[in-house]
Amino acid sequence: MNLPFAESYKIKMVEPIKKSTRNQRIQWIKDARYNLFKLNSDQVFIDLLTDSGTGAMSDRQWSELMLGDESYAGASSYFKMKNAIKSILGFDYFLPTHQGRAAENVLFSTLIKEGDVVPGNSHFDTTKGHIEFRKAHAIDCTIDEAFETTNLHPFKGNIDLNKLEQVLKSYPKEKIPCIVVTVTCNSSGGQPVSMQNLKDVKAMATRYGIPVVFDSARFAENAYFIKLREEAYKEKTIKEIVWDMFANADMMTMSSKKDAIVNMGGFIGFKNEETFKNATVFNIMFEGYITYGGMSGRDMNALAQGLYEGTEFDYLESRIKQIEYLGQQLIAAGVPIQMPVGGHAVFVDATKFLPHLPKEELVAQTLAIELYIEGGVRGVEIGTLLADRDPDTRENRYPTLELLRLAIPRRVYTNNHMDYVAAALINVYNRRNDIRKGYRITYEAPIMRHFTVELEKIY
Ligand code: F0G
Repeated sequence: MNLPFAESYKIKMVEPIKKSTRNQRIQWIKDARYNLFKLNSDQVFIDLLTDSGTGAMSDRQWSELMLGDESYAGASSYFKMKNAIKSILGFDYFLPTHQGRAAENVLFSTLIKEGDVVPGNSHFDTTKGHIEFRKAHAIDCTIDEAFETTNLHPFKGNIDLNKLEQVLKSYPKEKIPCIVVTVTCNSSGGQPVSMQNLKDVKAMATRYGIPVVFDSARFAENAYFIKLREEAYKEKTIKEIVWDMFANADMMTMSSKKDAIVNMGGFIGFKNEETFKNATVFNIMFEGYITYGGMSGRDMNALAQGLYEGTEFDYLESRIKQIEYLGQQLIAAGVPIQMPVGGHAVFVDATKFLPHLPKEELVAQTLAIELYIEGGVRGVEIGTLLADRDPDTRENRYPTLELLRLAIPRRVYTNNHMDYVAAALINVYNRRNDIRKGYRITYEAPIMRHFTVELEKIY
């Protein structure tokens, strides 16, 4: 008999989680104004809100905490992180930040000014927020295949080179401070970017004299997909692939809460010393001194260790196979999801799930609420709420895809939990025709509204 797949780790510590009743959940979600961010964590049984900062650190990472050097300047923890970044990613210069959006804040303060345009592949919401906050524009150049959930394109995070060239031709070089390539592309479904595409984007960027920034939160998952799906890389190690990927970037921002498997942390990587020096000023103002930038020494240690572990094939295989395990159960039951299954999450196509609901009634949010009520499972809307209003017209932006994301934390849940999530969602699917009405907004913030939005049920 062939031996089945099994995870390449075992569990040393556990954290109890609480079950609840359907009636309790109906009340709790109403009290939370139908915003899942406003639920208390003990009102949630399985929390798939995000895979960010929610992973389980390894015994080696916890040991590193004890070795943290908390010196204000020149701490050994800083050098541990510097060595990991240099040896895995190839950047000579870096600045620690407290998380990914802080890295964006510092880097974009250095690079972006009013009226600029920043092309990329479906920028993440904080990335877009930091661009639009500076009165610049993010232009989505993702390939069209990414927006057809049943299209099995292996690299749905890819940038469409024609769309990109159109932008590079239409604006003067001075108005394009950088191209942002997100690996993997969270907004289009945790979909990878191929090595070929990374090389092509870099070659085009070089021709136009524009630097390339990788938004690298899930870079290791991207490398895993390159190994599996790109012929030329199937014999390479993840670390070799990662090295080749970052050869095509001039700078990187990193939310270490994902692929460096820590609960908090981030950084910016630079190849050019001058840009690093310019960014240093903002880092000191917004984050902290150059050698800690918003992180404690122990956290820099755990992050460095996480970078080594997070780029191991066995770890990545265990991780990504779990997402696939959940995704395949849903596909088998006919639940419409973004295919192929992504690296960190299953993205449910809410428009296909609830085709009778009008988009104005917040379809993916409605589905997220129903799944919570069904089983105490918390996902997150990646749809109209997240897309915000157009900064110029203030009209709602209805995205091409209206998705419910079920993000799986790293090394946290078992496949029994995945079976439970699948059953809960399949139950909702089987009663989908009874979900006749959605929700409307009663309060929203001017930008990034989804975190604090308040809703009421439409009757
Ligand atoms: N870039 C990407 C691709 C992300 O997914 C995130 C965060 C960030 C940047 C910002 O990083 O949270 O450390 O400030 N994504 C989380 C998520 C919040 O749930 O997908 P951060």
